[in-house]
Amino acid sequence: MTTRNLFLLPGDGIGVETMAEVKRIIAWMNEKLSTGFETDEGLVGGSAYDAHGEAISDSDMEKAMAADAVLFGAVGGPKWDDVPYEARPEAGLLRLRKDMQLFANLRPAICYPALASASSLKQELVEGLDILIVRELTGGVYFGEPKEIIDLDNGQQRGIDTQIYDTYEIERIAGVAFDLAKTRDNKVTSMEKRNVMKSGVLWNNVVTAVHKKDYSDVELDHMLADAGGMQLVRAPKQFDVIVTDNLFGDMLSDVAAMLTGSLGMLPSASLGAPDASTGKRKAMYEPVHGSAPDIAGQGKANPIAMIASFAMCLRYSFEMIAEADMVEKAIAEVLNDGVRTGDIVDAGMTPVSTSQMGDAILAKLEALSA
Ligand code: IPM
Ligand code: MG
Repeated sequence: MTTRNLFLLPGDGIGVETMAEVKRIIAWMNEKLSTGFETDEGLVGGSAYDAHGEAISDSDMEKAMAADAVLFGAVGGPKWDDVPYEARPEAGLLRLRKDMQLFANLRPAICYPALASASSLKQELVEGLDILIVRELTGGVYFGEPKEIIDLDNGQQRGIDTQIYDTYEIERIAGVAFDLAKTRDNKVTSMEKRNVMKSGVLWNNVVTAVHKKDYSDVELDHMLADAGGMQLVRAPKQFDVIVTDNLFGDMLSDVAAMLTGSLGMLPSASLGAPDASTGKRKAMYEPVHGSAPDIAGQGKANPIAMIASFAMCLRYSFEMIAEADMVEKAIAEVLNDGVRTGDIVDAGMTPVSTSQMGDAILAKLEALSA
């Protein structure tokens, strides 16, 4: 039997309780479908800081690098507001992305039919929505140097971040976006600020060149990122794949997430380049939502984004397409049945707890696999 190694990093807040539901699904799959998942677990974020004074330890970093895939929950919370900048919870997440070279972040925004009324937009604007944001994840202003606060002679300080993109970074993320578009509606919209930023001019040039050279059969549009944000809330269904840089992708994916009804619904995959000899990509899967300290530990969190992230893991790291489809179908059916956590509840419905949502999804899996 094949062994499949998963490294679990639940992190902080609702990361822990939503990961618990994924663990139940993994156990179920191992038992019912002989999937052979082996799991190990580590600490990241505030919980890692409490245990050993840094946002992720070297030994957990090594385990993440060696695993077939990493499942990540969420990090952060007010408890760690005053820890040193280098050890803040988010530093663990950023180190994982950077050291594993997970340059391609896939953030699908799908509006489940049962949730169209939970969106902040009119139902007809979001019904059937299925877009994919491809966010560059290891470059740009997140990692560019210098990145510092310096003292000026006049008693003032200066905060500096640096936006940098090299040709190869834009080429490889554009390639991922075009390849994925071919499996969908064959359309890519590239977003930058070429009207203000040199890195935006280069981004636009390189995406255009990649398109011309290898992907002229895919439709390509360019949009300024601010206009793109506006279009996302005006007419989101015009988009298929959006490719954009690290910071714009961070913002635009939160906007896209909210169109679907709740941040608690959206999964993501962060992928590296295929290994030259094995063809395998390093990969980490995480929900788009954060650690939600306001509801943490109360059994109120929606585990769907975390579970859907595991479905993406099945699809992209293990090519277990049937199993991934099954998990996604189970989620859709549970929503159709009106099972809702508090974040997606409609008037007149009683919200279920995190583990009751897990129960409902497991029951659907059981039925779907029968
Ligand atoms: C995200 C988050 C992170 C980011 C934070 C937690 C560092 O907002 O994954 O979108 O800014 O990338
Ligand atoms: Mg974000």
